[in-house]
Amino acid sequence: MTVESSGGNVLVVEPMGASGEVLLQSVRRRGFRSVVATTPEVHRDSLLAVADLIDETIYVDFSDGDQAVNALVLAGRHYGFCGVVVSWEFLTDVAARVAAALGLRGPDLEHAHARRNKLEMSATWKVAGLPVPELLAVVDPVTFHEGALRCLTYPVVVKPAENSASFGVTVVDRADGMADAVKEASAWTHEFPHGIPFDRSVLVQDYLLGQEFSVEGVSDGGRFFTWGVTMKNTTEGAACAETGHVFPAPISPDLAAGIIELASEGTAALGITDGISHTEIKLDANGEPRLIETGPRPAGDLIPQLVRLATGESPTDVYVRQATGGLPAGFVPRRARRAAAIRFIMPPRTGVFNAITFPERLAAGEIVETRVTAEPGTGVVAGSTNVERVGWIMVKARDGESAAAALCEVDSETRLSLT
Ligand SMILES: Nc1ncnc2c1ncn2[C@@H]1O[C@H](COP(=O)(O)OP(=O)(O)OP(=O)(O)O)[C@@H](O)[C@H]1O
Ligand SMILES: [Mg+2]
Repeated sequence: MTVESSGGNVLVVEPMGASGEVLLQSVRRRGFRSVVATTPEVHRDSLLAVADLIDETIYVDFSDGDQAVNALVLAGRHYGFCGVVVSWEFLTDVAARVAAALGLRGPDLEHAHARRNKLEMSATWKVAGLPVPELLAVVDPVTFHEGALRCLTYPVVVKPAENSASFGVTVVDRADGMADAVKEASAWTHEFPHGIPFDRSVLVQDYLLGQEFSVEGVSDGGRFFTWGVTMKNTTEGAACAETGHVFPAPISPDLAAGIIELASEGTAALGITDGISHTEIKLDANGEPRLIETGPRPAGDLIPQLVRLATGESPTDVYVRQATGGLPAGFVPRRARRAAAIRFIMPPRTGVFNAITFPERLAAGEIVETRVTAEPGTGVVAGSTNVERVGWIMVKARDGESAAAALCEVDSETRLSLT
């Protein structure tokens, strides 16, 4: 490991969740001190497990964006931050504003809100001439009545303008499913746990039926770099919860190049000149890629670890390096030398969780790590979002095809005990 840094203070905006932990590890690995902006509640409920990676804590009320920015800019004058990084999707705009106010590297401010609002995001892409799912309607959940959308061609996707982890996202295949889907999409009025108010608009989009991918990238001074394309698996049916990822995706070089080109254009249109990004792309009926969403934050679902396993380079390490001083002129992300994949275990029905028995070995790959994330004896429900998962298994393999085959073995050999 090479550490080139000086031990300066890096502001880490709300590192809760798996990608927050990975980001804190990167700050430490790069030799910086982490000054974490969080709330007392999140600190108590989610950050104690990573307490060793936190050097200082600042409590901020994120429910008021302007106030949060002012507090962090003031803190910046005290701590002399040398970089600002963020992992929590709903605070990417706050992080960008703080970085700009302190003269540090971060994405452009113009599209800061579009980067976390799916309605503004797809409008921005459309104006830039980039392919997106067709927007069939924007619904105000308060005045919505079923008759208004009688003429749609189904299936469609109904989703909130602002939420994450597939909350409120439904694939609807007939008109009489719309009322429930709109209700579901508008059920959350505020982000949890910071209480950031949501735009309540509900999007109705054309359903893209092709395979889904993501692109893990980092931008520096307007240059876009990527480690490659990740292939996603999601649940079938009405919900679209993510059940697994394979990196690098086992696809043709031409398709990978097209997906990467679109991610590069999509991030540029959203003003992601600097910082990490995770771009979700789906193929349409003609096999052409279209942009679903981009976040100027590390990917969730342990994708940064998959990239690290496959390439030997951590995207979040590079993010910290970029945010604190920029990347060298000749920077090139490392190529994958092998593949890595993850499968999330989701309960197929409501019940009480007992245990998961993972296979001991696989023919197509090697097991890297397994984790049971549910407590035995707790109630679980059938998975429709990313939060119903009860555990995961990470594997590595020679190439993407082998990693995907290893996940198929996991699917047939993993036993989930529910009562
Ligand atoms: N227009 C669409 N056509 C087909 N599938 C879609 C469409 N929009 C969303 N999806 C599916 O629903 C999933 C969740 O949608 P989206 O990414 O917009 O919401 P999210 O809450 O950010 O979810 P996540 O955090 O899981 O990515 C996508 O990853 C994709 O599988
Ligand atoms: Mg998404």
